[in-house]
Amino acid sequence: MKHIFNKGQNPTKPTLLMLHGTGGNELDLLPLAGRIDDEANVLSVRGNVLENGMPRFFRRLAEGVFDEEDLIFRTKELNDFLTEAAEKYEFDRNNIIAIGYSNGANIAASLLFHFQNALKGAILHHPMVPRRGIELPDLSGKSVFIAAGTNDPICSPEESVELQNLLVKANANVELHWENRGHQLTINEVEKAREWYLKL
Ligand code: MLT
Repeated sequence: MKHIFNKGQNPTKPTLLMLHGTGGNELDLLPLAGRIDDEANVLSVRGNVLENGMPRFFRRLAEGVFDEEDLIFRTKELNDFLTEAAEKYEFDRNNIIAIGYSNGANIAASLLFHFQNALKGAILHHPMVPRRGIELPDLSGKSVFIAAGTNDPICSPEESVELQNLLVKANANVELHWENRGHQLTINEVEKAREWYLKL
């Protein structure tokens, strides 16, 4: 997958996996990585799917309606890529924290839903429930921060709570942070994510 890897100064830190929103690319979230931890490795990936020229991490049939088969395929593809990248760049495969926005948060949530050891944790900015009706792996020891908007037209507050509940049921530690805003990624929620990250 097309990506950027920046080696961090501190090898004991996690690797931050940056996953952009629809129409973004691997450059978009580099400043965000620096705000969370400027000493960690950064692996920033571009989604492999194009929708009218806009990169995404998996196909959708309509706004908010996912192509489930492609979601499953792309989730495995990303998980395999993480294993290859860990070997190539010599970072700890078991110490990856995903940071995703919107479509990127959705594929990060899908990694958690499908693979027990894909991620150590995740910061999900405005995620949706990636799939329903499946049994999640045991996510004991995994930590997830969700930032949601009370007026988010793409991801309703009910869906944010549903995602939290599904992850908690799978034994993950989950913190849900609310912004009185819509789907946008706010400076305040990034600051809250940083505070959460520092407590890990
Ligand atoms: C998705 O398709 O993943 C969500 O609708 C969020 C987005 O628009 O990227």
